[in-house]
Amino acid sequence: MKVTITFDRLRWEEKALSDAAESAGIEASLVDVKGLVFEIPKKRAEFGDVVLQRCISHYRSSLLTQTLEGAGVKVVNSFAVAETCSNKLATSIALANAKVPTPRTFLALTSEAAEEAAEKLGFPLVMKPFTGSWGRMVTVVRDRSTLQSLIEFKEELANPQEQHMYYLQEFIRRPPRDIRAIVAGDSIVACVHRIAPKGEWRTNVARGAVSKSFKPDSELKEIILKAAEAVGGGILGVDAMEPDAGYLVHEVNNTVEFKGAQSAVDVDIPAQLVKYVAQSARR
Ligand SMILES: Nc1ncnc2c1ncn2[C@@H]1O[C@H](COP(=O)(O)OP(=O)(O)O)[C@@H](O)[C@H]1O
Ligand SMILES: [Mg+2]
Repeated sequence: MKVTITFDRLRWEEKALSDAAESAGIEASLVDVKGLVFEIPKKRAEFGDVVLQRCISHYRSSLLTQTLEGAGVKVVNSFAVAETCSNKLATSIALANAKVPTPRTFLALTSEAAEEAAEKLGFPLVMKPFTGSWGRMVTVVRDRSTLQSLIEFKEELANPQEQHMYYLQEFIRRPPRDIRAIVAGDSIVACVHRIAPKGEWRTNVARGAVSKSFKPDSELKEIILKAAEAVGGGILGVDAMEPDAGYLVHEVNNTVEFKGAQSAVDVDIPAQLVKYVAQSARR
């Protein structure tokens, strides 16, 4: 069994995954993709039985996965899953269609339509970029005049592709924490609360949140696994919130970071993930 772990920036996670593979007796090579050149669609034996895609850049990751799959290489996660998870709108659609509880969400295609969607949602609401992570540019909008200013900024400064497009979501009243579950196939490898630091409403570890282990109840377990399945399955980070009643899944992450979660749990996360990757190569 040979696993290739592709990366564009070597983080703690990629090293941990490579070490876990070696400990499991799996040959693993870490490959910096930035120097690679591909002729389409030449078969590439050097990638071994399976590639674990760990590039941070969404676009680079997506192009590389597409190319490898086109050359017959098995990639975790698949191109289809990566496409769904790297676009928050596509994720929301997949979750809603699978009847996974998720916050009420609107797409608006002009600034006027964004104001109309805000009317329906009420304030505060949450505005998000369609692609992105680490909580970047995820904004809580508390009133109409702030929304109008944000629209002005977005029209002037946004990535041209997203210039007139808006992803708006109901603001969920919740404790200052959310839930992060690391999923591999049909098992929940780890589940933690992410507790936001003082003065920050977002609960991303990249924004200073601290992880704390907890045992999910059966309702939450079911929702987490259903969310993972809804986007096509693989190695995923399912994010959920706890309003007063029930749970809501707001995001499913494709190239999931797990350093924060690992600091809070005893289970060896990279070992479990590598086990899943090896199993998917055999399927
Ligand atoms: N609808 C919402 N209501 C309340 N908080 C939210 C909502 N959506 C996101 N958040 C907070 O913002 C954080 C980042 O949002 P998320 O959609 O996960 O984007 P990112 O990909 O940047 O992590 C979440 O972890 C959560 O703490
Ligand atoms: Mg998130």
